[in-house]
Amino acid sequence: MKVEQILKGYSTAESRWARFGSYYAMFPVDFAFSVVEKYSKEGDYIVDPFAGRGSSVYAGGVLGRRSLGVEINPVGWLYGAVKLHPADKEEVEDRLREVYERRHEYAAQAKQMPEFYRICYCDDVLKFLLCARESLNWKGSNVDATLMSILLVHLHAELGEGLSNQMKGTKSMGMSYSVQWWKSKGMETPPAVDPYPFIRKKIAWRYEKGRPQIKLDSRVIFGDSAQELAPIADSAGRNGMTFSLLFTSPPYYSITNYYADQWLRLWLLGGAEGCQPQKEKHKGRFTNKQEYYDMLDNVFGLCSKMMKPQSVVYVRTDRRDFTFDSTLEILKKHFPNRGVSIVEKPLKEDTKTQTKLYGDSSMKPGEVDIIIG
Ligand SMILES: C[S@@+](CC[C@H](N)C(=O)[O-])C[C@H]1O[C@@H](n2cnc3c(N)ncnc32)[C@H](O)[C@@H]1O
Repeated sequence: MKVEQILKGYSTAESRWARFGSYYAMFPVDFAFSVVEKYSKEGDYIVDPFAGRGSSVYAGGVLGRRSLGVEINPVGWLYGAVKLHPADKEEVEDRLREVYERRHEYAAQAKQMPEFYRICYCDDVLKFLLCARESLNWKGSNVDATLMSILLVHLHAELGEGLSNQMKGTKSMGMSYSVQWWKSKGMETPPAVDPYPFIRKKIAWRYEKGRPQIKLDSRVIFGDSAQELAPIADSAGRNGMTFSLLFTSPPYYSITNYYADQWLRLWLLGGAEGCQPQKEKHKGRFTNKQEYYDMLDNVFGLCSKMMKPQSVVYVRTDRRDFTFDSTLEILKKHFPNRGVSIVEKPLKEDTKTQTKLYGDSSMKPGEVDIIIG
């Protein structure tokens, strides 16, 4: 089937799952498919060390490539892992019912939650979310991962579209900012949502055309590429698992903070009740130039050991000087003596950049594609 047919509207399982989970700086889906189609062939291996919500890996999987992604942020990882292999629908529905039926066990806990949560969610939703937060084993069970990722998608949104009071669907705003905003608009009463029929309907829509067909082994590993790719790079030459396409978009220096933007979703995954400063490396915003440079150097260095001599490297990144210059320098170092093309993507009003897709109009400088090979 042609890419345009696969992605047309929401008419196929592949297109419904392709757009699963909005995520900061995500690839437009048709762009991900077109790069995979143009620069690789069926049966090839593709790698994305900064997989985000997994569009490159998913496009590879749908188009018959063996695709491997790595993602450090649990929200992005869940979206990517689940869209490749969603669990059986009935099992997800059964699990939803189980969690819903146990929600009253969380009545006392719900009452003690900070004001933010009690304005954001009605009592039934808050009890249900607390139960889901505690009982869903999203790292170890595919059914739980699928249900959890569906909850994440609908956790906050415009009024009436998700489980929450009025919120942005993309990034989570701060707790006190949100409380003040709701109060200033007279919106202290959360919408009365019954989470069981609400989420069941969302499941029904997502599965209406079935599950995507992924022909060859494709997956996203949860973790830090600097660690996860080391053993793969070590054995790549020996086991013949060499990659033909490196297709990725690394984090942008000093711009994106995948932790702060997702703090409420990370709470549902077991994280803190509010947005805390993030001390762990590579999980928040990159503010140290040397650390950022070393991380890219390390990860692209590992990738270069996994690639075939005639491979293609396709990297979309931020145009801002430090991010762009570092990325280009590092790529040239690890993929020497190869043709390099730079495709500038000046941001026009109607251009669908990955940051604009996320609803961030402050990202003026736009993106640039570096293509090697
Ligand atoms: C620009 S985004 C990629 C977006 C992706 N192309 C998409 O379509 O969703 C960069 C991603 O790299 C991840 N990341 C940053 N450092 C990482 C590391 N050391 N290992 C794995 N992932 C990392 C971030 O969490 C973020 O999701």
